[in-house]
Amino acid sequence: MIDPRSSAIQYAHENSSRFLQELKEFISIPSISTDEASKKDIQSAAEWLATHLRSLGVVNVQVMPTGGHPVVYGEWLQAGTSALTVLVYGHYDVQPVDPLNLWVSGPFSPDVRGDYIYARGCTDMKGQIMVALDAFECISKTSQLPINFKFIFEGEEEIGSPHLSAFLESHKKMLHCDVAINPDAGAITPDVPCITYALRGLAYMEIRIDGPDHDLHSGVFGGAVHNPAQSLCELIAGMHDSQGRVTLPGFYDKVRVLDPKERAELDRMPISDDYYLKATGVPALYGEADFTTVERIGARPTLEVNGIVSGFIGEGAKTVLPALAMAKISCRLVPDQQPEDVYQQMRSYLNTRAPQTIRWTLSTMHGGPASISDRNSVYIQALYNALETIWNKPPIFKREGGSVPVVLDFQRILGVQTVNTGFSMWDDNMHSPNEKLHLPSWYRGIDSFIHFYFNLAQ
Ligand code: BES
Ligand code: MN
Repeated sequence: MIDPRSSAIQYAHENSSRFLQELKEFISIPSISTDEASKKDIQSAAEWLATHLRSLGVVNVQVMPTGGHPVVYGEWLQAGTSALTVLVYGHYDVQPVDPLNLWVSGPFSPDVRGDYIYARGCTDMKGQIMVALDAFECISKTSQLPINFKFIFEGEEEIGSPHLSAFLESHKKMLHCDVAINPDAGAITPDVPCITYALRGLAYMEIRIDGPDHDLHSGVFGGAVHNPAQSLCELIAGMHDSQGRVTLPGFYDKVRVLDPKERAELDRMPISDDYYLKATGVPALYGEADFTTVERIGARPTLEVNGIVSGFIGEGAKTVLPALAMAKISCRLVPDQQPEDVYQQMRSYLNTRAPQTIRWTLSTMHGGPASISDRNSVYIQALYNALETIWNKPPIFKREGGSVPVVLDFQRILGVQTVNTGFSMWDDNMHSPNEKLHLPSWYRGIDSFIHFYFNLAQ
């Protein structure tokens, strides 16, 4: 008789094409959380998940309303009260697809080309949800699941999870567990498995500069008024100093200092500046002085301009002095910065730096704090061993530049640590056209989650 792990893995291999088929179904649903027009698709993605959970024998499956998009919940608790209970987290919402003309195949018409499947949400993160669920199925169909499961899938991660904290607060008992698993933290390249121990936070803002009360003839008035587009650019240019540091007052006050030991570890990450040059196509890298690229991304906060609009950008020329200019700006945060503090710092920057010649307004959009987790827990060890078994090499520990706001809430509200991992790669075009998922890594992900679940029971 073969052992339960091998039978589950054999089941995974025998069912691989059906798993891919189910993934295709799921990623065909355009569940874009930021679009008002996608409400129905958000609902169908939630229903699709609920139906799938039920088909796996998960019980108490509910599509639960929140102040925004619904949460999908389900549980399987038959391993008994003395067994470990894990809370598997995921988000079924996806980012918008624009610019549409750059997609080789339709964003919601999944297409397999070579080792990759292409579609919005395949890697971030519907594919990662399916890793966790497929591994669950493989064990439950071939032997006995050794641990208890609770599942929570939200529909608002890509817009900053605005209603999730309240949901966690009001469902503490239902969500009670020993540890959370978040497969949305990704790897780097297919050859090395990754465990993520820190995720950055986010503070998202919009600045609006109003000048004249209507667009002006640039000849009749140019020279007499401060152009809002110019003023906005001046303000934005002042947000970094010549060393690449952010100048918002107090911005670095709460930033934890990196200790030499961690710096030395980060330095051993198998990723070079060459990788970043190739992955981005820029002629040279840019960032805060005195930090390596890995540190700049994982362990230091940043300020980015996400977009600027003002004036005439149509075909040809129009001599106009625009009435207003707007920019979307976001900061990636590290422990222990708080989004509210950063909004305040931006307000005081504008208060002291904005000239009398314009009026400014700052709106804050959404955010979430950074998180850092324990690297030495038995749960991390269970994942470490599982990844090592399948990849045949030790996983690396990384700090991730991206954000998954719920991780700190799991700590703060549910009192549990989160194990962050995943099988998306940095060059998977997350949030961009031609988002892709590396299928060989995805299949390895399923195999390693089978081991992970078994290891957790020990
Ligand atoms: N899956 C990403 C987070 C991520 C990014 C993990 C890169 C690993 C590598 C997640 O879905 C995401 O994009 N989050 C948003 C959160 C934000 C809107 C609060 C992000 O980081 O921009
Ligand atoms: Mn994302």
